[in-house]
Amino acid sequence: MSEAVYPVPAEIAARAHVDAARYQEMYQRSVTDPEGFWGEHGKRIDWIKPYARVKNTSYDPHNVAIKWFEDGTLNVSANCVDRHLATRGDQAAIIWEGDDPNEHKVITYKELHREVNKFANVLHACGVKKGDRVTIYLPMIPEAAYAMLACARVGAVHSIVFGGFSPDSLAQRVVDCESKVIVTADEGLRGGRRVPLKANVDKAIEKIAVDKVIVVQRTGGDVAMSDGRDVWYHEEADRVSDHCAPVEMNAEDPLFILYTSGSTGKPKGVLHTSGGYLVYASMTHEYVFDYQQGDVYWCTADVGWVTGHSYIVYGPLANGATTLMFEGIPTYPSPARFWEVIDKHKVNIFYTAPTAIRSLMGAGTEHVKKTSRKSLRILGSVGEPINPEAWTWYHENVGDGRCPIVDTWWQTETGGILITPLPGATPLKPGSATRPFFGVQPALVDAEGKLLEGAAEGNLVLLDSWPGQMRTVYGDHERFVQTYFSTYHGMYFTGDGCRRDADGYYWITGRVDDVINVSGHRMGTAEVESALVAHPKVSEAAVVGYPHDLKGQGIYVYVTLMAGEAPTEDLRKELRDWVRKEIGPIASPDLIQFAPGLPKTRSGKIMRRILRKIAEDSFDNLGDTSTLADPAVIDDLIENRQNKH
Ligand code: PRX
Repeated sequence: MSEAVYPVPAEIAARAHVDAARYQEMYQRSVTDPEGFWGEHGKRIDWIKPYARVKNTSYDPHNVAIKWFEDGTLNVSANCVDRHLATRGDQAAIIWEGDDPNEHKVITYKELHREVNKFANVLHACGVKKGDRVTIYLPMIPEAAYAMLACARVGAVHSIVFGGFSPDSLAQRVVDCESKVIVTADEGLRGGRRVPLKANVDKAIEKIAVDKVIVVQRTGGDVAMSDGRDVWYHEEADRVSDHCAPVEMNAEDPLFILYTSGSTGKPKGVLHTSGGYLVYASMTHEYVFDYQQGDVYWCTADVGWVTGHSYIVYGPLANGATTLMFEGIPTYPSPARFWEVIDKHKVNIFYTAPTAIRSLMGAGTEHVKKTSRKSLRILGSVGEPINPEAWTWYHENVGDGRCPIVDTWWQTETGGILITPLPGATPLKPGSATRPFFGVQPALVDAEGKLLEGAAEGNLVLLDSWPGQMRTVYGDHERFVQTYFSTYHGMYFTGDGCRRDADGYYWITGRVDDVINVSGHRMGTAEVESALVAHPKVSEAAVVGYPHDLKGQGIYVYVTLMAGEAPTEDLRKELRDWVRKEIGPIASPDLIQFAPGLPKTRSGKIMRRILRKIAEDSFDNLGDTSTLADPAVIDDLIENRQNKH
């Protein structure tokens, strides 16, 4: 790990919202007097009925309950749209950059208001009421933001499913939250290729009951429309008015569900509510990126992930910011695309993922150097640990050494950024997410849950709640309690390992559970395994992550075949395609090893520790193998490993 320290540049500190002293002061207050601190900062958004009660939270596993601003009422879409009309109606709310570099669109706050109102009325016309769940399966087009805000306007709960998920994965998520309405597009467009979204929806709902499918026209491609069930968005929008009054919602009414992978079972529906989430998303957006009035801000995530929810849509729009939304991919039409878009729209703040940085670094620095990037002031990173080489390349080449990089650690569950530098306050160390945001109390524990002091390495927990925290797993509160609050009594367990150095800086080391992080996409190894064993030729499967130069982690699969099946290259391809079909292209195995047997204890438990080591090609020290039922399988596994260096 790099020991280099980058001080805060003087010109950044001079104009930033907070400097080092102010950070200390605000942080202290936020943890010694959370009621007072959040009572004050909760006012950054507009309330219909102001709250009197600020914080009511318990991490006691017998009674986990998390409530913030619980007696206040508000409407999230009014906060993201209506309240900006008087002051910045003609300012760009969204700059949309198409997949095709010749296509872009600017949507002002006035226009956003009109579009969101229309979309809300279309939802009404399709029977959507307060509390109903609406599944959104859209590409990165402005309608994705309109649909989210329209749900918020009518009090419906959106569940966005990333467009890269398969029909089966989509169906599972529609069924779990019982949504009766799906919003999709004819097709998506990414890197010049069409993504058959409507056709995927048709496959997904073959066996389930859905009342309405609202289809946005994006490419004009040919799609099947089922009478009575499927409607074209543009036709419905023509029929409705452009006024729809925002519904008054309680702070603790649900805003959205977002499915994410855990170490066991099917994906969890992470539930976020309205008031605390919006306060936290908007406050972190302003402070972490040092957002200033007039800045053009670009987060390259997809709205299908939590980063898109909090830092493309809700945080920036609550702040009246100009947020750039990009339909395409970093390498189309060339690896200069990100940098060209930055010049084209004079982007000041740029937030992306380490996997993108690594792949663009591999494509060659000349693509960066031919662009100006003078407008840039702040750079950001999210999704996985950023290796110091990628950090340094990003800092030197993209930011010309001028722009602080905020390496932001957080999770779908946390709603917003928890550990991060603040540009005007925090000296940077490449690879470290540095220090906690206001109100966040990270701590490290050992395997027994003992708190570790000072410089130490252990499991990362959080000792108290913050307003953006998830409230429950949709439909399964017990799973919420079990997953996050039962490992270490009275603490929220993140699932991440972490080191704290002598300066109190946090260095996330990666997941300590059976979750892997592939190109910033979070995946449960159990999900990939259950997809594999559903294949008729597979008897058993075990999936582990291994270090991958571009993706951070790659997917390494061990499969035992049914008796009589031969391990062939064709079968490897067949299994890869199978997983893509079952889960989606993001779960495509990188390496598949056919194994006559898996290492198991006498009680039949697979020893993943051993499989991880072999996948990493570091099998000299496999640790204690004396409990294996059949130690002989190890030799075959090593002999036929797929990641030989
Ligand atoms: O392991 C951590 C990693 O991503 C996990 C959360 O994934 P997800 O819920 O999909 O949310 C991703 C976007 C917020 C974490 O448990 N992670 C995320 N950001 C970082 C990170 N690891 C290291 N450094 C980060 N900046």
